[in-house]
Amino acid sequence: MSDLKIKKVNNFSAELIVPGDKSISHRAVMFAALSNGVCEISGFLPSEDCYSTIGAMRSLGVKIEELGGSDNRLRVHGCRGQFDPPERPIDCGNSGTTMRLLSGILAAQPFSSQLIGDESLSKRPMNRVAIPLEKMGAKIVGRGDRKTPPINITGAETVRAIDYASPVASAQVKSAVMLAGMFAKGKTTVSEPYPSRDHTERMLNYLLVKNLRDGDTVSIWGGQIPESRDIVVPGDISSAAFWIVAAAAQPGSRLLVNNVGMNPTRTGILSAMIRMGATINERIDESGCEPMGSVEVIGGNLRSIEIGGEEIPRLIDEIPILAVAAAMAEGKTVIKDAAELRVKESDRISAVAENLRRMGVPVQEFADGMEITGVEELQGAEVESLGDHRIAMAFAIAGIYASGETIIRGTECIETSYPGFVPELEQLMAGNH
Ligand code: S3P
Repeated sequence: MSDLKIKKVNNFSAELIVPGDKSISHRAVMFAALSNGVCEISGFLPSEDCYSTIGAMRSLGVKIEELGGSDNRLRVHGCRGQFDPPERPIDCGNSGTTMRLLSGILAAQPFSSQLIGDESLSKRPMNRVAIPLEKMGAKIVGRGDRKTPPINITGAETVRAIDYASPVASAQVKSAVMLAGMFAKGKTTVSEPYPSRDHTERMLNYLLVKNLRDGDTVSIWGGQIPESRDIVVPGDISSAAFWIVAAAAQPGSRLLVNNVGMNPTRTGILSAMIRMGATINERIDESGCEPMGSVEVIGGNLRSIEIGGEEIPRLIDEIPILAVAAAMAEGKTVIKDAAELRVKESDRISAVAENLRRMGVPVQEFADGMEITGVEELQGAEVESLGDHRIAMAFAIAGIYASGETIIRGTECIETSYPGFVPELEQLMAGNH
């Protein structure tokens, strides 16, 4: 197990880019594999999670060439929605997105397959995708009522179009149903309590697969095959979030992040930081399939806020780093309506609460969130990643604000989403920014 030692960093000035968006990279590979020809993907995120998706699609007979280059290009040879039966269980590693989106595709294939994952993924509920996909005609067997992995999927003989009201705002559930719906006859609809990230809708539209949003409901028409087109993946705002908070919480710091995804279903972190008192200037180019642009952050003193409701899906993956910002803000920050955090790569409510307490921050835990009381100065401590990349990175940033030394235990998980995070942090600690 590798550890990371963090020391305090004084204010900094930096201009950087972050690697490709994880959610969009997964979709680019899967949708290109479903397409009717050859697609080149640039800006692909070369992280463990995204390699799980490449491995999964290869095991279904898809040819994927890694062209490399500074924009990290892939060439994917589409199979027109028809794949080969896999010869062995498909390993999704740590990646919930791989397992849930792939379930939607496999629910519509004329063969059986098994999906497996690592220790963390094997604890995560797959019934949220199994319930609608079974209504569409597939059979999905997992462990217990929550259908935790391994899961066995037998594709539907004929896929039925459904109208599904998802009890959770989840882009993974919505996308799984939409992908199966592409193979159904007629119109499939999915509604959610609040809109979740819309990368699937945008990318399918870009690949000429008709789908429509009406409020909280998305519709897709079956019998469509994505048209092969080249795909550009913007930088990941969820990775940028760590540096955005690092700069925002320190008077005198300035940061510019370029080429980053600015999809409004993902930029909740920016709105929250602005409410906390940060100065953030955005430049957005809407001309591509995904909005992208640059974010400038000028550091200052932060104040507490309340976060909940509709805002949660727009910043769900950023709550660990937002909690770190809250620990440095004046007053009590309340995060609610975020019970989903308990079924992420770790139970992120208890992981954040425990680690913040170790750093001297008073935290009250609720079933669906927490209350964090900001402190004058964080105390250096030994904290645990629990094998969760976003916990490891959030507390690495906490460490640069803490007195003394902070040790993060178990940092290899950072490779899940952000190769290059540790070298970037080392530059910052060495004062090279
Ligand atoms: C993702 C959706 C979100 C998010 C995850 C990636 C996606 O999960 O937390 O990191 O790519 O669709 P849910 O769909 O479970 O909300």
